[in-house]
Amino acid sequence: MSNSDHEKNRAAWNQMVDLHINHPEYRTQEVIDGGNSLKRIELETLGDVTGKKLLHLMCQFGLDTISWARHGAIVTGVDISDRSIEVANEIKQRADVKARFIRSDIFALDDKLNEQFDIVFQSYGTHIWLADIKRWGQVVAKYLKPGGTFFIVDEHPANVMFMGDDSHSYFKKGPIVSVNPTDYCETETRIDGEHVEFQHTVSDILNALIEAGLRIAHVGEYDFGYYKVCEGWTERGDHYWDAPEGPTIYPVILSVKAVKD
Ligand SMILES: C[S@@+](CC[C@H](N)C(=O)[O-])C[C@H]1O[C@@H](n2cnc3c(N)ncnc32)[C@H](O)[C@@H]1O
Repeated sequence: MSNSDHEKNRAAWNQMVDLHINHPEYRTQEVIDGGNSLKRIELETLGDVTGKKLLHLMCQFGLDTISWARHGAIVTGVDISDRSIEVANEIKQRADVKARFIRSDIFALDDKLNEQFDIVFQSYGTHIWLADIKRWGQVVAKYLKPGGTFFIVDEHPANVMFMGDDSHSYFKKGPIVSVNPTDYCETETRIDGEHVEFQHTVSDILNALIEAGLRIAHVGEYDFGYYKVCEGWTERGDHYWDAPEGPTIYPVILSVKAVKD
């Protein structure tokens, strides 16, 4: 079953893909040329993925999915956006990498994917798009093999309190609707329609995984960003970003590793 807010996001993400493909924050050409878009946190945490079946939820146009395949994983990427999956399939061919991509809301994946994975992975800019975090936990648990590992590295929910004009409550409930939102890479470009975000606290995220039967194995919190969070933030050279004053006094990135015992 899909969700009407998710369908609005599908339409918004369909428009954003072509604004992102050639943007320097996405390393599309590097990946096509044999490179790798994965960052230190996920590489260090997941380690050797050779021969592992990996499901990448909310994979956008598959740069990280293709990068995991280059590290030896057998990969499947899922994204709600039609255009993302179209581009992911083009990039995989140009990169000459084996990967399977499925267009689906992760809440409607039952109809399209019925197998389990050694690793379920999700990264950088995902939980905010999900209307129901408990249901997300169940999706993650369903697709993990017994003994399998889930890893998410994403925006820390506390970061929303420090984002200047866009700041809001850590505990905000319900949909956060943006009408004709600006694209986060091409900030002069407005998207037709609406997109809908949701705030989930750290306890919401951890409890969703625990209630779905997973064991939390590790939680990480980081004092730097994975994108230019506000004006003045600078890229450090490792694809993470520092605030103008240096390491932040609040967490910007959250990671969670969970295991299906
Ligand atoms: C910021 S991008 C994630 C980028 C990711 N770090 C990567 O691998 O490049 C968020 C993605 O989530 C997808 N998305 C949003 N809601 C979704 C849903 N309900 N089911 C599946 N994908 C969804 C969007 O289409 C978009 O491609």
